[in-house]
Amino acid sequence: MLQQDDLISLVSNFLQQIASAPSLQDLEKLKAELFGKKGFISVALAGLSKLPMEEKKSLGAVYNDYKNQLFQAMACRKDVLEEQSWQEKLAQQSIDVTLPAPYAPWGQMHPLTVVLKRAVEILVGMGFCVHTGPDVETPFHNFDALNVPLTHPARAPGDTFYIKGNLLRTHTSSVQIRVLQEKEPPLRVISFGSTYRRDECDATHTPMFHQMEMMVVEGGATMAHLKGCLFEFLSLFFQRPDLEMRLRPSFFPFTEPSAEVDVKLNGKWLELLGCGMIHPRVFTQCGKENLSGYAFGMGLERLAMLKYELSDIRDFYNNDQRWLGYFSEKN
Ligand code: DAH
Repeated sequence: MLQQDDLISLVSNFLQQIASAPSLQDLEKLKAELFGKKGFISVALAGLSKLPMEEKKSLGAVYNDYKNQLFQAMACRKDVLEEQSWQEKLAQQSIDVTLPAPYAPWGQMHPLTVVLKRAVEILVGMGFCVHTGPDVETPFHNFDALNVPLTHPARAPGDTFYIKGNLLRTHTSSVQIRVLQEKEPPLRVISFGSTYRRDECDATHTPMFHQMEMMVVEGGATMAHLKGCLFEFLSLFFQRPDLEMRLRPSFFPFTEPSAEVDVKLNGKWLELLGCGMIHPRVFTQCGKENLSGYAFGMGLERLAMLKYELSDIRDFYNNDQRWLGYFSEKN
């Protein structure tokens, strides 16, 4: 049995250790030393049973008192240590709002998207609706219905990608056919998307490129309407109310008469797109009679190259971030 003095110094030693325990783990260790099965308090209390009744009573009260003191000290220290570790965690997580933000580059629209968006905005403003068609087309929609004869060079496998009897559309004009088959006039539609031709890659050709197409079908449509529509669109697109534009006679199997449209930019005439009055055979192929209409189709890359004065079509697809970033200021 411990002497009273030893007991007091032992307990105060424990109290000191508890008060200065550096961490919750250290506190747990002390808890085991005190209250564990072989802990100081448990052993002391167990020892009481062998004592006579009187001593048992008085010593029991003393031990219980120590036990409570130690217990409370333990709970107090635990609170402090928990608060401390919480504060430490908070300090680690704190955000210094005065620090510069981490570098997160902003994406920007691809120049082709910028050009397409602008063209669509203008034409939708002029009353056109957007229609879409599949990239994999039937020869009927891409060629036959557009009055392109079987002997036309564009139909040769050397010029067009064929897929099990179907093909990758060579132009967006195929969407005209889909619309004519499904809808009744009056029609004002635009369509756009990827188009494909078996070309070698060079500064002005890529096997995949993009086109945009517009078609008007309404009673009494004339070439004058086509010209007015083109001027409205192009002068808004290039932001030149005094844009110089000219139509040159040309040939497309699906328009009659057909024309090539040039615009004068920086003093030079530049070929921009194809257009014409829709050929009556196109209407009959779609089961329609006695209709009049006009259409135009153009390459979006070409439009972007003219707008931004670019010289190599391949730049659109090289994914060079510095090159692409150049257009963010011009959006
Ligand atoms: N589809 C033609 C091409 O790819 C462009 C074209 C010409 C579209 C005249 C038209 C048009 O709608 O009327 O070269």
